[in-house]
Amino acid sequence: MSIKTGLTAILLAAGKGERAGGGVAKQFRRLGGRSVLGHAYAALCGTAGRIILVVGEGEADNALASLGNVSPPCTVITGGATRQASVRNALVHLASSASVASHILVHDGARPFIPSPVLDRLMAALESGAAAAIPVLPVADTLVRGAGELVPRDDLYRVQTPQAFRLDVLKAAHDAWPADRTATDDAQMVRALGHDVQLVAGDQRLEKITMADDFARIAALNGIEAETRTGTGYDVHRLVPDKPLWLCGLEIEHTHGLSGHSDADVAIHALVDAILGALCEGDIGQHFPPSDPQWRGAASHRFLEYARDRVAARGGHIVHVDVTIMCEAPRIGPHRDAMRARLGEILSIDADRVSVKATTTEGLGFTGRREGIAAQAVATIRLGNAG
Ligand code: CTP
Ligand code: MG
Repeated sequence: MSIKTGLTAILLAAGKGERAGGGVAKQFRRLGGRSVLGHAYAALCGTAGRIILVVGEGEADNALASLGNVSPPCTVITGGATRQASVRNALVHLASSASVASHILVHDGARPFIPSPVLDRLMAALESGAAAAIPVLPVADTLVRGAGELVPRDDLYRVQTPQAFRLDVLKAAHDAWPADRTATDDAQMVRALGHDVQLVAGDQRLEKITMADDFARIAALNGIEAETRTGTGYDVHRLVPDKPLWLCGLEIEHTHGLSGHSDADVAIHALVDAILGALCEGDIGQHFPPSDPQWRGAASHRFLEYARDRVAARGGHIVHVDVTIMCEAPRIGPHRDAMRARLGEILSIDADRVSVKATTTEGLGFTGRREGIAAQAVATIRLGNAG
């Protein structure tokens, strides 16, 4: 049997990510269009025949959802109070399940990117009979003790994961390890049992996310950049007598107003759809259903503020918006600058990033017959490295 067939990966994601902070645990945060854990999972899929995902109590659904499209057999189990306890839970699960596992990869879910040459080196070590193999990086900086005494660094390494083991060796190491001692990785436990641990070259891109600013650093190391996106929106409302006319967040003097469930600001509605379109987050009706009484007569700037905040929540910002209003009357020209200023205020961007244009339709169609007003919009946004 090839080692690959008998290879099970233990993917650790039961930590709280306290040092990284940020509300959502680091392994579930997004980086480059996927969760941190989803990247690690995808990287392991090609190498391990089976993956045991270890998550915190009650986190199974959340963790699975964060993986995106899962393909190989994946079992989700609950971790323990420490990393070491989480690995042990996975080993206990493995022993109790019908498994063909002969070798194990233990990987930190907080290390999203695993360059395939590292996996190749680990596999080659196992194929050649090693009981354990780990990726390491040399220490580049000068090291001193607190008192200033120099520490020779030629024999010092920074240890990464995935760490590769023969299953029997890893189990024996966990069984022999004293319950009251903490181990921050598995290789030290295996070495304590007297086994050789083969060192293979690690990779900077494999760094662990530990602190808040590691997200940006690791994204940059892996070539993940901010992304520019464009969305379009279109909306129509009927003109009726005896209603106020709202356009671009301003009340405009006119004989007619627009009918609709909210204040019917057709220009803002098109703009909200453009922004949601750039985010691929549906349309205005999905977020503010017309059937919901709480939006009756609502001021549309609230919808636009919501769309603005959705962009911010994805680590992004609005670069530019362009709105075209189609109507015979009223004339938009006299209001154009006030409209640009008002939209800029709602979107929290400068008015010189806001364009408002208007056109008649030469008397043609429903806008030409003054039955309604149509608006279309384009929004350009820049998403941070969260995608
Ligand atoms: N881990 C785990 N179970 C634990 C503790 C940690 O599965 N009880 C996992 C983490 O999810 C992470 C890896 O072990 O993928 C490395 O741990 P660490 O970087 O310390 O992550 P956290 O413990 O989540 O972070 P912190 O120590 O800052 O709270
Ligand atoms: Mg920890």
